[in-house]
Amino acid sequence: MTAGFTRRQFARAGAAASLAAILPRGVFALPTANHKAIIRADDTIGLVRPEFHSHFSEHLGSCVYGGLWVGPKSPIQNVEGFRKAAVDYLKELGVPVLRWPGGCYADDYHWREGIGPAPRRPKRVNVWWGNYVEDNSFGTHEFIRLCRLIGAEPYFAANVGSGSPSEMRDWIEYCNFPSGSALADERAANGSPEPFRVKYWGVGNELWGCGGNFRPDGAGGEFRRFANFARAFGGTTPFLIGCGPSGNDAKWTRGFMDSLASSRLPDGYSIHYYVNGDHAPLEYAPETAMAQLAVFPQVEQAIVEQRALLDGYDPARKIGLFLDEWGVWDRIPQKDQERNGALWQQSTVRSAVAAGLGLNIFNRQADKLYMCNIAQIANVLQSVLMTDGLEGKNCVRTTTYYAFMLFKAHRGKTAVPVDVGARMLAGDFSPNAVLPPEVSISASRSGSELVVSLVNPRASEDIEVECKLRGAKAKQGRAQILHDSDLNACNTFDHPDRVTIRPHEVAVEPDRIRIMLPAMSVATVTLDIA
Ligand code: AHR
Repeated sequence: MTAGFTRRQFARAGAAASLAAILPRGVFALPTANHKAIIRADDTIGLVRPEFHSHFSEHLGSCVYGGLWVGPKSPIQNVEGFRKAAVDYLKELGVPVLRWPGGCYADDYHWREGIGPAPRRPKRVNVWWGNYVEDNSFGTHEFIRLCRLIGAEPYFAANVGSGSPSEMRDWIEYCNFPSGSALADERAANGSPEPFRVKYWGVGNELWGCGGNFRPDGAGGEFRRFANFARAFGGTTPFLIGCGPSGNDAKWTRGFMDSLASSRLPDGYSIHYYVNGDHAPLEYAPETAMAQLAVFPQVEQAIVEQRALLDGYDPARKIGLFLDEWGVWDRIPQKDQERNGALWQQSTVRSAVAAGLGLNIFNRQADKLYMCNIAQIANVLQSVLMTDGLEGKNCVRTTTYYAFMLFKAHRGKTAVPVDVGARMLAGDFSPNAVLPPEVSISASRSGSELVVSLVNPRASEDIEVECKLRGAKAKQGRAQILHDSDLNACNTFDHPDRVTIRPHEVAVEPDRIRIMLPAMSVATVTLDIA
């Protein structure tokens, strides 16, 4: 129920108040909103790097094989072997950076097995994700081609755990040396005379676990050794990403950074933060959904505290903080995994709300972050696309896809601070929190446009939010929303468009906006400002 204001009243008042932009102020007296915020449009947090909206693709379940890649001989409509619908949808979404080939898989991957004529590539057992056999038909050239097709910048995770510095060094030369070396000529013979110019190189993945069970100082030692051989070729200097902790583990970060002493610092430092859930994706109740979403303030805290730790070693902030893997990780039913591949997870309205909370955090902490990659791009965990495997023609845009769409307008703008009332502060940072914040808001500005994103993560309270504008006057505005009254609602192969973005009412006055946010909703308001 909407407190103090029915939906119809709100819609009527909202429509009337949009007119207020062209009428004298004070003509329309809207009832007081129950949540208030101030958008400081004349202040600055930092650039909303498009890279905050990046993605991750691992050889895991049906993310690559059956998700993005079906092979050129497939009856499924494809572009050179890539699933056409996936390419089209990802192009539309815009994928700033795509990370590959893992994840845990990266530290068991040997790049040479994925080049050359496909039929001659060795078949390998994927030991991390169910011992199924991969034919390596998707390798370096295919990944680069996919990136070019969807307009993404490639990000390779190199093998540290079971690989060697020379293997990574050669991979860099193979990709980036223009011509005249054996490796560059081999690349040309394999169909790509132009260098790939790959900038982002992860030095291992989760070295504290699947990447080799290192201790922090051991992982730092590996970084020193591998970095020593990672060279610039043909004008492309590798941007090396060191392996940080899972979550907000200060001990790992101190141990890793201390062990680097005076040697080369990483260009980037990656943390992973999954928000786990005890329930199957379609079986959340309001309380269990709230408990999961209540973890997001800890994600924000991790970003702030890990950044502060890095600043102690790098006061000039040259090291970019990466949230290399993030998203909700539910309890995934075995039958779903048997049918569609390991970690095949449906995205619901709850997942979209989770995405909205995360993306708002990235805007608010824009000065502290370099890149964020949601896990993963297709089928696996909190994906933006869902397909029904190698045989299936279906490709669905998930609720998470639409949440990302709602935030696209922030890319490249300057994040500005939003002050909120005491009772809806960023949320409860305690690990025992059972409720998410009452509302989550972020804003960004560029020229004559101000974009405001608002999330109501509560399962049973519709709210009205009034945002006062400081340092800008609104001329007109429009809003879009993602919402369904069922928090488990999702897009399926039978109903692919059940939950999508719809236009929404927003009341716009020169110095404020008011909007109703139904329980479990994500909205974006775009304002033309003076
Ligand atoms: O994304 C699934 C797995 O989660 C990745 O392989 C690993 O890096 C993380 O533990």
